Amino acid sequence: MGNVLLTGDRPSGQLHLGHYVGSLKNRVELQETGKYRCFVLIADVQALTDNFKDPQKVRANVLEVALDYLAVGIDPARTTVCIQSLMPALSELTVYYLNLVTLARLQRNPTVKSEIRDKSFGAGVPAGFMVYPISQAADITFCKADTVPVGEDQLPMIEQAREIVRDFNRIYGDVLVEPEPLVATDEKSRRLPGITGNDTKMSKSLNNGIYLADDSDTLRAKIRQMYTDPGHLKVSDPGKVEGNTVFTYLDVFAEDAGHVAGLKEHYERGGLGDVKVKEYLFEVLDALLAPIRERRAEYAKDPGAVLAVLKEGTGLANEVAAETLKEVRKAMHIDYFG
Ligand code: TRP
Repeated sequence: MGNVLLTGDRPSGQLHLGHYVGSLKNRVELQETGKYRCFVLIADVQALTDNFKDPQKVRANVLEVALDYLAVGIDPARTTVCIQSLMPALSELTVYYLNLVTLARLQRNPTVKSEIRDKSFGAGVPAGFMVYPISQAADITFCKADTVPVGEDQLPMIEQAREIVRDFNRIYGDVLVEPEPLVATDEKSRRLPGITGNDTKMSKSLNNGIYLADDSDTLRAKIRQMYTDPGHLKVSDPGKVEGNTVFTYLDVFAEDAGHVAGLKEHYERGGLGDVKVKEYLFEVLDALLAPIRERRAEYAKDPGAVLAVLKEGTGLANEVAAETLKEVRKAMHIDYFG
């Protein structure tokens, strides 16, 4: 088999610009190279680990995420899009992998640690949440993915999957493939902050995200609220570019770097108001998002067709997973009936 690529998203909300620059854009480019057998997984089981009391939300977002995929250019003819919960092989692999990971190892995972801090699990951390990195290893290995394009926050998950693969192969024999993460090469795009400031992460709970589905008016309103330099009170005042979220976004999204450099210089000198810079950012982002938004609206007219894409993709993925599972069972000596 040639190269296999797999990545995924939790359907706990619509996808935003942070997903776009950190992962989606890269994914579509990789799909276009034709060098990979591509899988994209909608990780609803993982979304349930911290939303188990809200299954309706997860269900609704499976469709939203699928719409986001289609809108950005994930092409079901070239990428298999599948739903995690409808792939029983993933649960089975997870159970086998659970033996290969210690509790202490799970507790050291930096992404899990910061999620636990952010999510304030009242009654304590559910076991299902603690072990989701192991289930993510099942996601990655069912198709023997060697390449996993992800945002930077997912690196600990890939590392965990690599350890599981190495241990599995050492103990049971060479069956699984060790995955490599692929992080967006553009340094600036790796961590797009929320509109509330450069030290915030874009997230639903912070209400500071710009979503792929946002219409023009919403986009404009969000950019108007965007954090700038609190010391830049009058247009004539010199302003700070460093830590100014509007410029951070321009650095990521504006193609005309020369124009941005000119704006920065003017802003620092004084005489350039926030409103003007924000209007330019609006133009830049609206040009990017308008075609995505339009395609999304088009697909949203026929949810049945989107579900059919997911059903077909899940069926295909299950066939691939069944092959791997057969090898796994054999290697583990639990293939009793052949
Ligand atoms: N944990 C990922 C996220 O929160 C989603 C995910 C689930 C994933 N399974 C995956 C990513 C497998 C890459 C590979 O965004």
